[in-house]
Amino acid sequence: MKFNSPVQQTGTELVTELLTNPAAQADPYSTYQRMHAFGPAITGPDGELVIIGYRLADGALRDTRLPKQVGEMLVRMGYTNWRERPSLRLFFTSLGHLNPPEHTRLRRLVAGAFNARRVAALRPAVEQTVADALDRLSGECCFVDEFAYPVPVTVIGELLGIPSADRPMFQTLVRDWTGVVNAQDPATVEKADSAAVVIRDYLDDMAAHRRAHPRDDLISALVAPADGNPGLSAEEVTVMAGLLWAAGFETTTGLLANGLVALLDHPDQADRLRSEDGLVGPAVEELLRFDTPLQFLFARTAAEDMVVAGQPIAAGQRTMLVLGAANRDPEVFDEPDRLRLDRNGESPMSFGGGMHYCLGAALARLEAHVAFPALLRAFPKLALAGPGERRPGLALHGYVRLPISA
Ligand code: HEM
Repeated sequence: MKFNSPVQQTGTELVTELLTNPAAQADPYSTYQRMHAFGPAITGPDGELVIIGYRLADGALRDTRLPKQVGEMLVRMGYTNWRERPSLRLFFTSLGHLNPPEHTRLRRLVAGAFNARRVAALRPAVEQTVADALDRLSGECCFVDEFAYPVPVTVIGELLGIPSADRPMFQTLVRDWTGVVNAQDPATVEKADSAAVVIRDYLDDMAAHRRAHPRDDLISALVAPADGNPGLSAEEVTVMAGLLWAAGFETTTGLLANGLVALLDHPDQADRLRSEDGLVGPAVEELLRFDTPLQFLFARTAAEDMVVAGQPIAAGQRTMLVLGAANRDPEVFDEPDRLRLDRNGESPMSFGGGMHYCLGAALARLEAHVAFPALLRAFPKLALAGPGERRPGLALHGYVRLPISA
């Protein structure tokens, strides 16, 4: 596809570029910069409202008149039998795509495991996991394979109770399965289906085993909830475990790799993080903002004619919330394209907001708080050893390969 020169592009053309041009997806920030000139929202090529302003995105995330409507979205894409496609069923029937009351019921069952107190208690285990991964880093290697993937996988794997010997195979399986965030592409969905069958069958077997032989892990808690809770059906357990397993590392792997690239591109900022203990909190927020691991959210659809933060949205209009663009909104972030680790303003929108606010936010933050300073201090000469390879697509924004020399 040929695009007009930047000065001639309309907002809709910019959205099309973002959705179709792999180069714009790998580095979307100059496109966002141009999109912000059109205000907080742009009408996309299919009439959807593409929300790029921070305040509008924040309002939309919290507005219950914008429920998720994934079924309609998939049918419109041509998947009339989407519940019979293993990848679509496993992904789109999960917590993140449900509305109340199902969402409320399921979220309540798992929320406790990820609250601030339970997560804080995991710090020694996270520190040990990071130390083990640092011991394995040496010479030239791939940062994703040796650190950004194994650290979060070990943490969520331990929590769920996935045996360590089984974890490596999920790197490709989960990447292929979560390709369904680009469900427009039938080949991607074919590949995702094959991966989803393996993941689903594995988790079904594991849940059955834990039902018979409970242990002190989250899958055992899901199959036998305490306190008189009605519990989950067998399929709900598998879908929940699949979501926690995938969400537990896919995005955190992105944060660790994107964050490392940002730090190595800004050596003065990396040096500050090496030496200033108090900087890690705001620094991780800034890394989450600067190169957002989940760039956009889809499927929220207006249930009625409405106005959110001054923006009219028509009944039935679909929205696409571009978190990565909201995080670079010049009305909210001073010099939004600069990395400033001591920035202390609005929280980044990287974990969403409202009822679907990321369940694992405290856990992801803990992993990053431990990992970045330890990494920089252990390897003062850490450098990129070649260009990284971005994960294809825009939604899950990270790397599949990142050569470094430690
Ligand atoms: C840097 C890492 C992470 C990022 C950027 C991230 C981002 C997000 C975002 C933006 C949402 C909201 C989705 C929406 O509103 O449609 C979300 C939801 C969710 N996240 Fe995360 N996440 C991360 C790590 C984790 C981890 C470690 C877990 C582990 C349990 C997790 C579990 C979930 C779950 C279960 C939901 C669905 C919550 C609901 O719908 O109620 N995430 N995440």
